Amino acid sequence: MVLSPSPAPVSLANRDAGRNSNRNPLRWRGLIETYRDFLPVSDSTPVVTLLEGNTPLIPAPAIAARISRGVKVFLKYDGLNPTGSFKDRGMTMAISKAKEAGDKAVICASTGNTSASAAAYARRAGIKAFVIVPDGYVALGKMAQALLYGAEVIAIDGNFDRCLEIVREMSENYPVTLVNSLNPYRLQGQKTGAFEIIDDLGDAPDWVCIPVGNAGNICAYWMGFCEYQEQGNSTRRPQMMGFQAAGSAPIVMGHPIASPQTIATAIRVGNPASWQKAIAAQQASGGEIKAVTDEEILEAYRILAGEEGVFCEPASAASVAGLLQVKHTVPEGATVVCILTGNGLKDPDAAIEHSHNAIHSGVNSDLESVAKVMGF
Ligand code: F0G
Repeated sequence: MVLSPSPAPVSLANRDAGRNSNRNPLRWRGLIETYRDFLPVSDSTPVVTLLEGNTPLIPAPAIAARISRGVKVFLKYDGLNPTGSFKDRGMTMAISKAKEAGDKAVICASTGNTSASAAAYARRAGIKAFVIVPDGYVALGKMAQALLYGAEVIAIDGNFDRCLEIVREMSENYPVTLVNSLNPYRLQGQKTGAFEIIDDLGDAPDWVCIPVGNAGNICAYWMGFCEYQEQGNSTRRPQMMGFQAAGSAPIVMGHPIASPQTIATAIRVGNPASWQKAIAAQQASGGEIKAVTDEEILEAYRILAGEEGVFCEPASAASVAGLLQVKHTVPEGATVVCILTGNGLKDPDAAIEHSHNAIHSGVNSDLESVAKVMGF
């Protein structure tokens, strides 16, 4: 018996381009194929992909209820990318272009996610990956990834900002290509997050809340919203609401922070590379860049997992913490998207340490004892 494929649902043309297979018209082919017309690739670009992108936009009723006034909240769960963070959007582009150029090695500085992503995509491309990280400040899951993907992991006695200085100089003096967000292909890939949000909602939201670390992603999203509108795919642009961790908030403070501190190690950045560009995006969009405390971040982290069932890493929860901090200023009936940049499994130590839930340990191995603990 021959099974005929079910008809493709009506959706936007650009999305359909990524679902172009005879046998399964719904098969996702990664963000470069899907948004090829919007990206600096050609037929001769070898596409290095792990089928990143196409992440869910999840309604968040428990968070919306805290704001009320008809506000709708969605979570762009980019922690569901192949290596568990939004970095894969940029890395598929950066590594494809590195391969196209014949590069043999790439390098990045990282608080963890960039290194995991660079390691995975580089190895898939047959390119060597070097990652420079701040010793002792990379979450467990991220370090595990970089090692297993086979990167050369170099942990230095210095923070992320120092790591970035080193890799910049390294890429100027040695045959290694920089794949931090200073590499313009990274932001090109990351802008597709904005395209997906518009494709899902049918138009741009009113607000986008986003964590800010090295400040590349807020710029990438803004670029995506602007380009998609210029091409007639949306009628408006959102206000970009960026949130830094209070102990690592150079943009908010107006000066670099020599020793940034925060539980959200992913955004522990004292001198962001895209500082001025991020301010330009914030201003052009009519948004704001503000600071959230570690307590606010952890509260949002627990609400996301405990009430929405969405497990993100602490830095990602900064977007929701920020939204809740400024909830009284959200326009009535607004649609808000919070970007959840990384998966909760990246940082299991933070989850165990900051959960308000405890393991019932030392329970006897008989039915009665277990039932008693269960409250029966
Ligand atoms: N959220 C997560 C989970 C991140 O890993 C990062 C950045 C950000 C937000 C901030 O994005 O830097 O574009 O403003 N992580 C970098 C890294 C610094 O090395 O993985 P940004």
